[in-house]
Amino acid sequence: MSAQVINGKEIVSEYRAQIKEQVATLQSKGVQPGLAVVIVGDDPASHVYVRNKAKACEEAGMYSEVHKLPENTPEQELIELIEKLNQSAKVHGILVQSPLPKHISEERVVEAIAPGKDVDCFHPVNVGNLMIGKEGPLPCTPAGVIEILKKIGADIAGKHAVVIGRSNIVGKPMAMLLLREHATVTVCHSRTKNMEEITRQADILVAAVGKAKMIKSHHVKPGAIVIDVGINRLDTGKLAGDVDFDDVLDTASYITPVPGCVGPMTITMLLRNTLEAAERAAGVRVTV
Ligand code: GUN
Repeated sequence: MSAQVINGKEIVSEYRAQIKEQVATLQSKGVQPGLAVVIVGDDPASHVYVRNKAKACEEAGMYSEVHKLPENTPEQELIELIEKLNQSAKVHGILVQSPLPKHISEERVVEAIAPGKDVDCFHPVNVGNLMIGKEGPLPCTPAGVIEILKKIGADIAGKHAVVIGRSNIVGKPMAMLLLREHATVTVCHSRTKNMEEITRQADILVAAVGKAKMIKSHHVKPGAIVIDVGINRLDTGKLAGDVDFDDVLDTASYITPVPGCVGPMTITMLLRNTLEAAERAAGVRVTV
């Protein structure tokens, strides 16, 4: 039987409508959530992502500012901009688009962002809070995956979730969030032996490798939920995920399309983090 293709557009538009309402509520109390996005250099794909983030922000009723810096910007100049944004009352979230030019240390830049404004959840303080389950921002892509799983009614507790990829942005925090949802989690990576043996045990398979169409039907247990985090540009110019969608379609029970599901959900989680950062700054965030 063919898998159900998860309707990313529907999930995203529902979620964003909710956020827009919450933004309006906060604004009625005198606070407009604001996001500053900083981009260094000319990478066309990064510029597209940044434009999408700013547009989503404005559509949700948030304040947005974009800082475009030239490729040769000294690290110190970028850090001084971040320090200004840390002080800005209009800005509740700061996102520095990755990757940065080679002469700039991502680590020093991330650590310059005030943890309360770190809407990527890249700052070591927030990564630590994530590990111990303390309230704070959640990493956008992994949080988006969890929301997608909840939306389709996936029962995560007790399931075997296999994450392919161990990056700081996706693989590692993804494993942590699945663990928070009480899944049994395995992380596979480039040195994993007999990967197929492991991925075939997954009830939930999350692919975050960065290799187009790498996951085939023989990697997938019949009936598994397959979430594709990859976004790769093919020689033809088309985009493809890490999962060979056509090959896996008849094996999985649910599958996410690329593009149009995890990508826009990631931006939605960025909006959520910005809203929550504004609520915390205004002292009106109700935590559970
Ligand atoms: N580059 C690609 N994805 C991301 C992301 O989620 N955050 C930032 N800051 N840069 C990125």
